[in-house]
Amino acid sequence: MLRNRQDTFGWGTIVLHWAIAFLIVGLIILGYVMTRPDIDPELQFSLYQWHKSFGMTALSLAFIRLIWWLSNIHPDPVASLSSLERRGSSVTHALLLALTIAVPLAGWAIASTSTLNIPTLFFNRLLIPHLPMEKSEAAETFWSNAHAWLAYGLAGLVALHAGAALLHHFWHRDVVLRRMLGIFRRGAASNADQQPEGGDR
Ligand code: HEM
Repeated sequence: MLRNRQDTFGWGTIVLHWAIAFLIVGLIILGYVMTRPDIDPELQFSLYQWHKSFGMTALSLAFIRLIWWLSNIHPDPVASLSSLERRGSSVTHALLLALTIAVPLAGWAIASTSTLNIPTLFFNRLLIPHLPMEKSEAAETFWSNAHAWLAYGLAGLVALHAGAALLHHFWHRDVVLRRMLGIFRRGAASNADQQPEGGDR
């Protein structure tokens, strides 16, 4: 089942969710490591190139995810969620969706405004054009700070989101995480609390 159902996520959503999740965690670690001041310059240059290529991959997948999200039904929230949790998770999900696009766009803006004018080669193969932005040290510093703040904000939200999913799985023992792992079966829950309920999100 590729598309979402009213009671659970389809494989399209699940594959995009985990691919973007792994890319983002990897990019945050890579971004942090490559910007350490004591790193060898040659290694730093190649880590920047990897970071830019994986970052552009994350951006492309985030756009596909957005189109997929707009063109699919949204499964009903799991019945055991309180109204506060529902509102909190809707806000977190909207912010995650927005930041997975804003963070790589800000990264692309750094490469585009840098006076060093280093080309962005997608996995050493395809030249990614720079955004039509003026190159200056002030603009590069601005986008560099914006990228770092947004990326570490995204890291905080990812931690919150993953923590909530683990809490639901191990403490509440409901289907919140299983639905996104593709191991939720209709009627698998043993009591009414674990079933997704009707209503729209
Ligand atoms: C979801 C995607 C991305 C994430 C999560 C991410 C994350 C990060 C992080 C955490 C840093 C370190 C910030 C610091 O400590 O100063 C960083 C730096 C950087 N990123 Fe990204 N990044 C992403 C996408 C991109 C893209 C698409 C590009 C360019 C095409 C890019 C270009 C850069 C550059 C040039 C730096 C170094 C900035 C500096 O030297 O101050 N990033 N990124």
